[in-house]
Amino acid sequence: MSLDNAGIEQIKADALSAINASQSLDELREVKIAHVGDRSPIARANQGLAEIEIEKRAAMGKLIGTARANINQAYDDKEKELTALRDSRALSNERVDVTLASNRNPRGALHPLTLLTNEISDLFVGMGYTVQEGPELEASWLNFDALNIAEDHPARTMQDTFFIEPLSSGLVMRTHTSPVQIRTMLENEPPIYVICPGRTYRADELDATHTPVFNQVEGLVVDKGITMAHLKGTLDHFAAKIFGPGVTTRIRPSFFPFTEPSAEVDFFYNGRWVEWGGCGMVNRKVLQAAGIDTEIYTGFAFGMGLERTLMVKYGITDMHDIVEGDVRFSRQFGSGGR
Ligand code: DAH
Repeated sequence: MSLDNAGIEQIKADALSAINASQSLDELREVKIAHVGDRSPIARANQGLAEIEIEKRAAMGKLIGTARANINQAYDDKEKELTALRDSRALSNERVDVTLASNRNPRGALHPLTLLTNEISDLFVGMGYTVQEGPELEASWLNFDALNIAEDHPARTMQDTFFIEPLSSGLVMRTHTSPVQIRTMLENEPPIYVICPGRTYRADELDATHTPVFNQVEGLVVDKGITMAHLKGTLDHFAAKIFGPGVTTRIRPSFFPFTEPSAEVDFFYNGRWVEWGGCGMVNRKVLQAAGIDTEIYTGFAFGMGLERTLMVKYGITDMHDIVEGDVRFSRQFGSGGR
């Protein structure tokens, strides 16, 4: 290496132009290795000082030292400049424009029937009941026979059943949630305290007060010493929790094949009695069909329509609003969504 003035000037000029030409911190890192670091020409020149004649050494040392300081200074300046550039680019690239239109998808809303089902389930779970579900495509035996609804019983046609082809399949779309009573009793020993909400089907036309697909909630209790007083107390509590404090129920004699005695249940709301559902003491024949010892156990049951409950509770006058699934309807019930 030529250690004369011109050589040092050249080393310095090369280093400065490489530093100035760097466009990014990555490039600058390469330049540092080539022109600034321990193995760069200027560092080597410094190491070569020892071989220089003693009388020239001081002047050359000064020259190299100054050139090196210039190079280091240029490097530091460039590094600062490129770091600032990188940071400001990142800031502008990652900036969020809060004025842009949002493209978030609306979250929808739980259907008020779902909310009501949850509310009823919570209420009964709070009293020690469990929630039981059964299939909507149900064995005819469970939907009818086990509930003491005989083959020729008018209740079968009364319920406008959707039968499944071939008829020999013995399957129907369940006409009520009462078959879940049988399933529960077949699978569990008393004491039984269950609530069974679910979808049910009847061959009705959709109009302001009817729908072929609707929802019911069934209650069933089987235990020692259960009486109609327990049934009445439970219905009163249920009505007060759903419709408001002080709302009571009355029961009127009626007939259902699966209860004996049977009753219609009404509740008193806004100054009038409103029909709510059916209830009664579980018919001994039904308990026996489900393998329960009727010498030891008695039970009560009730069943009501959820659409009807919802309509009265919220003053909904048209069934279409409930079945059409328009989120603008659902949103009014305070179930999230935007
Ligand atoms: N399953 C009946 C119906 O759909 C309602 C009903 C009446 C259910 C009396 C019951 C009951 O559990 O005890 O019309």
